[in-house]
Amino acid sequence: MPASVASPLLRVRDLSALRAAVSGFRHKGLRIGFVPTMGALHEGHLALVRHAKTLSDVVVVSVFVNPKQFAPHEDFDRYPRTEDKDAQLLESVGADLLYLPSVDLMYPAVFASSVHVEGPARELEGTFRPQFFDGVATVVMKLFNQVQPDVAVFGEKDYQQLQVVKTFVRDLDLPVNVVGMPTVREADGLALSSRNAYLSTDERQTAARLIVELNAVAEAVRSGGDREKALDAAKANLLAAGFGPVDYVELRDADTLAMADAQTPNLRLLAAAWLGKTRLIDNIAV
Ligand code: PAF
Repeated sequence: MPASVASPLLRVRDLSALRAAVSGFRHKGLRIGFVPTMGALHEGHLALVRHAKTLSDVVVVSVFVNPKQFAPHEDFDRYPRTEDKDAQLLESVGADLLYLPSVDLMYPAVFASSVHVEGPARELEGTFRPQFFDGVATVVMKLFNQVQPDVAVFGEKDYQQLQVVKTFVRDLDLPVNVVGMPTVREADGLALSSRNAYLSTDERQTAARLIVELNAVAEAVRSGGDREKALDAAKANLLAAGFGPVDYVELRDADTLAMADAQTPNLRLLAAAWLGKTRLIDNIAV
């Protein structure tokens, strides 16, 4: 088991206790790594924690299911909440502090502010979940101010979110280094996600088709094939496999997420599609 500075894992629910712990770390000259999560932790989150440990002396992980990033019709109420299991997993990878703020702590009745991000937030998820990125940016800004990390690690599974966070950190001069980590996948290629728990056995089998179709588009693009034809084929194949609706399968500039053209140097292929009642997202470099 990796050594942890504050072993065993410290569970902290209030802001003054968090601030006291953080200032204790700072007084010892320790570098603080941070992994924000919504809990229901899986191997993908643990990979983020392990990476944060290589970049810092202490690792703080937050678990907060953030109501501001869910629309009223979305899955806020049924989002899995597994605190004790999360704490055990975090202890097993040597995280130091688990921060578990309540909704009232994060958004007291008088709360009146939000962080609004344009640029990479505008399309893709921004089109289908218009409340999402302002909700993410607002909570991540608050968490950064509370934890005051030197480095924060995010998964590339939510690639657009990673670009949005990098953008507001740069624009607002936040003193934190934001690092992305490659997506962790199941043996059949399905990207790990807390929402995979919603899939039925049949849906779980079908779900792996998403990465198969993304790989096929990427291969067609790399070998100079017709991009529009490849994207259309992927959408049609997903629908035929039982997905639907397919919200998007798009090639974008990997840094700005603007529409890509033949001159775009770095491409990212991103997709979102429904499988039954579960919305899956995934993306790959091309
Ligand atoms: O990716 C997530 O789990 C969430 O969007 C985040 C970054 C923890 C903000 O609530």
